[in-house]
Amino acid sequence: MYEQVSHTLLNDILNRIKPEISEQDLRHFYTRLGANFYGIHSLFQRLYGDQEDFVEQAQRLVETMAQQYIKRPENLRQLDLVREKDYNWFLSQELVGMALYCKGFGGTVRGLEERLNYFQELGINLVHVMPILRCPEGSSDGGYAVSDFREINPDIGTLEDVQQLAVSMRERGILLVLDVVVNHTSNKHFWATRAKAGEKKYQDYYYTFENRNVPDMFEQSMPEIFPETAPGNFTWDEEMGRWVMTVFNDFQWDLNYSNPSVFIEMLNIILFWANQGADILRLDAVAFLWKKIGSTCQNEREAHLILQLLKDCCQVTAPGVVFIAEAIVAPLEVIKYFGEDAVIAKECEIAYNATFMALLWDAVATKNARLLNQGIRSLPVKLERATWLNYIRCHDDIGLGFDDRDILSCDYEPLKHRRFLIDYFTGKFDDSHARGVPFGQNSRTGDSRISGSLASLAGLEYAIETDDNEAIDDAIRLILLLHSMILSFGGIPLLYYGDELGTLNDDSYKEDPFKKGDTRWVHRPSIDWDRAEGRNTPGTIEYRIYSALKRMIAVRKEIEVFADFNNRELIEVENPHLFVFGRYHPQRPNEQVLVVANFSDKPQYLNLENIGSWGPQHRPLVDLYRGETPDIFNENLVIPEFCFYWLSER
Ligand code: GLC
Ligand code: GLC
Repeated sequence: MYEQVSHTLLNDILNRIKPEISEQDLRHFYTRLGANFYGIHSLFQRLYGDQEDFVEQAQRLVETMAQQYIKRPENLRQLDLVREKDYNWFLSQELVGMALYCKGFGGTVRGLEERLNYFQELGINLVHVMPILRCPEGSSDGGYAVSDFREINPDIGTLEDVQQLAVSMRERGILLVLDVVVNHTSNKHFWATRAKAGEKKYQDYYYTFENRNVPDMFEQSMPEIFPETAPGNFTWDEEMGRWVMTVFNDFQWDLNYSNPSVFIEMLNIILFWANQGADILRLDAVAFLWKKIGSTCQNEREAHLILQLLKDCCQVTAPGVVFIAEAIVAPLEVIKYFGEDAVIAKECEIAYNATFMALLWDAVATKNARLLNQGIRSLPVKLERATWLNYIRCHDDIGLGFDDRDILSCDYEPLKHRRFLIDYFTGKFDDSHARGVPFGQNSRTGDSRISGSLASLAGLEYAIETDDNEAIDDAIRLILLLHSMILSFGGIPLLYYGDELGTLNDDSYKEDPFKKGDTRWVHRPSIDWDRAEGRNTPGTIEYRIYSALKRMIAVRKEIEVFADFNNRELIEVENPHLFVFGRYHPQRPNEQVLVVANFSDKPQYLNLENIGSWGPQHRPLVDLYRGETPDIFNENLVIPEFCFYWLSER
């Protein structure tokens, strides 16, 4: 958009631009800058317009983008052009991801590179390597307390190793996802050490206070994220002689985004990682980016403006790179992280579907799909050209972030229902085979979340220990049922490393003084590669899970209607144990797949005459996963316990 004020500013900036920039051939850069500058200027003005040095900061912003564009390797610039043309590339059903810790999966970055075959064998073509940067010794919040945004943790490798990994992955057609921990740094980061030494410039990178007045005011409305290990949201720093805001752990200092220098630094870091060959960047804890007295300091309007500005700027330098929003917040709030508009107010193209994740776990515990159906019904429709990251487990805990109104409309009482779920997954409930561990218990509010590996939560640990073959069968069915959901729902399925082999809880974290207080470590395994060999031996648990997943992934990639064009219809059915939805082709309405899932431990039936146009018009119906016709008796489709179908007429 052309608008005089922003255009004049842009001209001034370009007139003053450093000679090393103006001498380059930056055609693509300038066309993109021209296209986005109105947005960039408006957002920058809105966030930082009251700063005295606003014009200089705007100059630095543009120069940062230009300098990173100059550094962008030619092959990545070419890839940008390809993706500009094929702009729906990340909506494809061909994408299937896995998230992992480098250390737990491959030991080192090189070790991970040596195992790339494993992904290809399973069909994984997108890998989220969780934080690999330098962290404080000991407590590092699993890598999310970063001490240097450009230096690799020396225990696992070097920057060259990561560049090499990116090249090898690209050769194999595997996308690389890396984190940028935008909300905070560790207390050992250079900025923090300078702040401690009393430098005002760096104290302004954080929220620091001389006394408790402002902190106490904030505490009135801020919840606690880690109530057991890091109560409160501020930490006294002895060296600095000031309080500092630390929403997560006391060694994670929240960055102050009301300071434009912080914004520009972080943009520079984002573009740096884009230039190292990351295809997708996961922006960590984005809901927390803006702090406002009197609020929960989550999901503030300015947090969205910051993300819009990051997106607008990244599109200028590295338009082929897309963002994942890690915002584990209420359904109505999550949806906003895609942006308000796909073109002029875009934020992150991809967001964690924590709602679906938590609802799936509800269905597991209740053995019915009532809340799942209700929750998905009230999930707002997302923007076009935006997609979900669908997952069952990740490195974090499971939070029961359902909407209370949804719980009420299923005739459950919210508090009691949440209590039941916690009891169920921590094995306190009589009928439960789950072996989860509580996380983040808050004695003041009664809240709690859940840790545990997929297999242990699904009852496999119990079944193996009690040597109960039927229970083993059930647990495996359940594990596959859950995967069938994230593979068909619409969005990018993100498996969690180890789940493809049925990895159980790992209690060894209890021996480590830096980990024992954080139960999330129970589900952050080191892969036992000898055990993993079992995936090649029919009959083993590893084989049963792995080979089924491998097949499911291969089949998903062939089903075009599984691509995410907001082409899903939830189908209301009478049987509360079933979760049923249809996927259709946005242009060819006759191409449809009916997904049916039974969350009960008993067989269930679905009357195909009652599901309108989704019922079969012609025979026979085929389950695409098994390649067989399912059992139908007089128009009633029979779905065995914990079973799913991907049905098509063929
Ligand atoms: C993100 C990470 C989580 C971490 C938190 C604080 O939510 O996923 O593991 O504890 O950010 O960095
Ligand atoms: C909260 C945060 C999320 C983080 C998690 C870690 O849910 O919203 O960002 O991953 O805590 O437990």
